[in-house]
Amino acid sequence: MRIILLICLLPPVVWAQSRGNASRMEQRILALGKFGANPQGGVSRVAYSEADIAGRNYVMSLMKGAGLDVSIDAAGNIIGRRAGTEPSLPAIAFGSHIDSVPGGGNYDGDVGSLGAIECIELMKENKITTRHPLEVIIFQNEEGGLIGSEALCGLLTPATLDLVSNSGKSIRDGIALLGGDVGKIPAGVRKKGYYHAFLELHIEQGGFLDRGKVNIGVVEGIVGINQWQVVIQGKANHAGTTPMDQRQDAMLAAAKLTIAINQVVTSVAGRQVATVGQIRAEPGAPNVIPGRVVMSLEIRDLSHEKVMTLFTAIQEKGRTIETESHVTISYTGTNENLPALTDPRIQDQIAAAAKSLGLTYQVMPSGAGHDTQDMATIAPSGMIFVPSKNGISHAPDEYTSPQDMANGVSVLLQTILQLDKLRLN
Ligand code: HGY
Ligand code: MN
Ligand code: MN
Repeated sequence: MRIILLICLLPPVVWAQSRGNASRMEQRILALGKFGANPQGGVSRVAYSEADIAGRNYVMSLMKGAGLDVSIDAAGNIIGRRAGTEPSLPAIAFGSHIDSVPGGGNYDGDVGSLGAIECIELMKENKITTRHPLEVIIFQNEEGGLIGSEALCGLLTPATLDLVSNSGKSIRDGIALLGGDVGKIPAGVRKKGYYHAFLELHIEQGGFLDRGKVNIGVVEGIVGINQWQVVIQGKANHAGTTPMDQRQDAMLAAAKLTIAINQVVTSVAGRQVATVGQIRAEPGAPNVIPGRVVMSLEIRDLSHEKVMTLFTAIQEKGRTIETESHVTISYTGTNENLPALTDPRIQDQIAAAAKSLGLTYQVMPSGAGHDTQDMATIAPSGMIFVPSKNGISHAPDEYTSPQDMANGVSVLLQTILQLDKLRLN
């Protein structure tokens, strides 16, 4: 009897060493993966699709089951709130997203979203109540340009609302479909000081942790991402009767520009990256020289200045291609997420949590964009990475083991409990 009494008297922080439940995480990841599952594996749970709505309903049912007070904000983000012992304190927020890219994997965003709910489950099971209120946030349409967190942080531009998402719906219509109200987004913007801190658990989406057999990544900064729509205007003509030296072939110019992009970005030292991920030739018939090509251009780096310098150099190369191929090339900015450094104090807490749990860790940048980079504009923020098997992501083979997911949850929980004791603002 005396031993049992002693255990019940143990301060909650001792129980906080409890680990994420690997089998519950695995079971829930597989259940969530059913919404938008592709026959070849992975998911296409793109924002505003039926699969996204169904996945959101599943996650909301888990949040309610964990005792969270669940609501949908004006931007369509799902917010689950848990009271703290000192209600006047600013909330500690943590979460991620569950929308995917087309043909994506089951772990990008899902690990951080289900991991946040898992932390609430663990606090419930161990009768832990924090001083600060807690908010689990499931951001909407992260893959379409961090839309939900942009709205929450007051970074959404009116032009963004009219962009067409991967589901074919405009962002404006998508937000309404999720239960949001575009007109009320400005009133719902969270200002600096509203949150005590923000944390996101996420898969690395690269191979450094997996190759190095390191358990945890402590993210020091998140790259900036700039995307443009590039339109190449040539002249459609007969593919059979038009001599090769008399063409204004938009597709040929697009091919030259793609190679030029690669040459510019690989010509300078650093970890910058650039991608042409979408391309469409018009009219799109085999026997017609494409008169117009619409393609995407994305450039990423921890330095926004470097992104813009590379873009200028690409435009310079484009001007030569215009002359050579008798076409015009125009660029329209479609998305900009500025780079963000995480809070060094939170980095330290994540590292200390990993250490206290006997987990190895390394400090590293994020080559992927995340909602954290928006949240970092209004609150001290941090990110926790767990390994991606073979560094694969945004593809059906994306995988993180149950134990790696549970390790990430354990570090997230421990960090939350430590931040609950600290003054940050
Ligand atoms: O594209 C990205 O970096 C993120 O996965 N949305
Ligand atoms: Mn993600
Ligand atoms: Mn992603």
